[in-house]
This record gives sequence, C-alpha cells and structure tokens, in this order.
Amino acid sequence: MPTNLRAWEPLAKEALDAATFGYIAGGAGDERTLCDNYDAFSRLRLVPRVLHATASGIDPSASVLGAPLSAPIMVAPFAYQGAFHARGEAATAAAAASLGLGMCLSTLANTSIEDVAAASGDGVRWFQLYPMADQGLNDEMIARAKASGYRAVVVTVDLPPYGVRERELHEPFSLPAQLGLPCIPEKSAAAGSPTPAQTTEMMKLDLGWSDIAEWVSRWDLPLLVKGVLSPADADLAIEHGVSGVIVSNHGGRQLDTAIATIDALPAIIEAVAGRAEVYLDGGIRRGTDVVKALARGAQAILLGRPVAYGLAAGGEAGVTTVLGQLVAETENALALCGCRTLSEVSGELLHRPSR
Ligand SMILES: Cc1cc2nc3c(=O)[nH]c(=O)nc-3n(C[C@H](O)[C@H](O)[C@H](O)COP(=O)(O)O)c2cc1C
Repeated sequence: MPTNLRAWEPLAKEALDAATFGYIAGGAGDERTLCDNYDAFSRLRLVPRVLHATASGIDPSASVLGAPLSAPIMVAPFAYQGAFHARGEAATAAAAASLGLGMCLSTLANTSIEDVAAASGDGVRWFQLYPMADQGLNDEMIARAKASGYRAVVVTVDLPPYGVRERELHEPFSLPAQLGLPCIPEKSAAAGSPTPAQTTEMMKLDLGWSDIAEWVSRWDLPLLVKGVLSPADADLAIEHGVSGVIVSNHGGRQLDTAIATIDALPAIIEAVAGRAEVYLDGGIRRGTDVVKALARGAQAILLGRPVAYGLAAGGEAGVTTVLGQLVAETENALALCGCRTLSEVSGELLHRPSR
C-alpha cells in the first residue's frame, strides 16, 4: 500500500496505457510550471509553535462557500475519469463524500451530472463549466447542476486554447470509443474518439468579463473563476460579482513558465482583501503543503493528479485512501504546528528569510 500521495503515481502508470498515463501526468512545454508548483511548496519553511496541547486532538474542519467540510480539501475538476477507471467520476464522488470532502465535477466528465449527484449523496459538489459557444448548452448544464444539488459553478478561464502538451504529441491520447460526455447536452453518446484538443473546439473562444457578470446574475448560484494568477484579475473577478477565485495554472498544463500557484497566492489574497473566498490548486502532495496554502490565506485547496492516480490504481477505495492520507497528513502537520483548528493557522507559521 502506498504510504504517501506521490507513491500512487507508479501504480497508476502500471494500471494505464502509456498515452492515458501521459495525459494525466504531463504538463505544457518544458513542464517548468508543473515542476515549479511542487518546488515552490518545498522552498517554504514552517516555523511551528509548541505547547498548544495539540497532541490531544485537532479539528481540521473547514467551510467552502458556507458548506461544511471535514477538512479543507476538495477534489479538483478533472476530465475523462471513465478512461481511468470503469466507475469514473461516480467512484471519485463517492470516495470524497464518504470522507466529508467536496468534489468539483468537470464539464468533460464521462458520468452525468445526475449520476455523480446520486453517488455523492449529501456531499458538497460544485460543477466546473467550460463555457460552450452555444449559450443554450451552458444554461441547460447549469439548470441540471442546480436541480441536482451542486452548490457552485466554477468557470475555468485558462483554456482554450489547449496548452502545448508534448507528451500528448508523442503518445496521442483520445477518449476511449465507448465513452460519451454526458454532462454536455447532445454529447452523451460516444462519438468517435475525440482528442482533448478536438473537444476544445466546441468551447466559447471570446469569453470576457461581461460574460462572468451576466452569468452571476443569470444562474443565481455562487460563481467561482478558476485559473486566476494575477491580482489584477482577482480584483476584476470581484468587481464582476464572483463569490470566489481559484488560484490555478491548470496543474502546469496550459501556459508553461506561468507562476507557481503558491507564489501567486499572497498578492491575490492582498488584492481580494476578504471580499471573496480564495482557493488554490497545483502541486499539493503533502499535508504540509495544505498548511502552507492555508497559512498564505487560502480557504481550502483542490487536489488533481493524486486523485486520478488513486482512481486508476484502486477505484473508489484508491481515491478514499489517497484523500484519507492527505487528511491524516494535514492533521499531523496542524498538530505539529500548534494549531487546533484552521482559525489558528496564520502567516506567522511561515519563515520569512531576512534579507
Ligand atoms: C488529467 C487532468 C484533467 C484535467 N481536466 C480539467 C478539467 O476538465 N477542467 C478543469 O478546470 N481543470 C482540469 N484539470 C486541472 C485540475 O483541475 C487542477 O487545476 C490541477 O490538476 C491541479 O494540479 P495538481 O494535479 O498538481 O493537483 C485537469 C487536470 C488533470 C491532471
């Protein structure tokens, strides 16, 4: 049994064909941002506090947009989970809900909005939207998500265009022929084996801030923008009515050499100044990474690839174990930092080298 999140990667590699594994693992260009997401976390050093009686137990419970979670961890939206395991998104949703954690469902899921809702029961779920060129499709997806108890719309704004992912050029990945994209109206039946890049062709190419403002009022669900790295964009997002921003570089899969998310976070927290919730994803592999993100002001984090690896290697049980390991490590890191609850986590925990 793998003892940490990274140890799931080789198991997934064994379980998957080379193209599918490369699709999950890869990043854009020279994979500088992919690597920097991890390296930036490991450059940060913690300065723990002691004698806070944390060994007798801590409570890592969190809230996201007012909904309770057992820990500040959500599953990031990631596409094509049916290609990684037969139960796909239903297995991921059931695992997250069983631990009291949340899940964000991708537009490009192979399981329907309704089936994922059924699998996650009363678990916290968000719906990630890749806006389609046809506004009617967007309205229909959001109406279904609302009817199925999804609590927020996450609009991803750092794709299209599709990043330059060289692993996919060497080993082309395409959706297995039997799988459809049932969240998207009229796409639920399998239709050839589109590559991820081909799938982006139906997306809206001229997305702008006015679309965000319109959707905030039109859909009447909290709206988060995912893929923000600039404080100026965080500010604009709030001006246009969002409830939160997700600091993300798409796991290093889009613009290579884009700033690591944990490095981008402080300026965004400053720009947002408490007016909305700020989340982060990219490179979280340890409980200490979760604590560092919280110490820099994130409300919660989202986890991508390790969940995909757990799913590929072990289905629902694999995802449950991956998420459980991150929760356990987060609890351990909090206890060793002297924090009984998340409210005791602050920037004071991070070492600031003197110049
Ligand atoms: C295989 C894969 C598919 C993804 N698909 C989507 C998607 O459909 N929508 C989206 O907003 N982000 C997508 N992402 C990005 C993730 O939501 C998230 O930003 C990223 O995985 C976080 O970095 P991490 O993998 O280092 O945890 C995908 C990531 C991976 C690895």
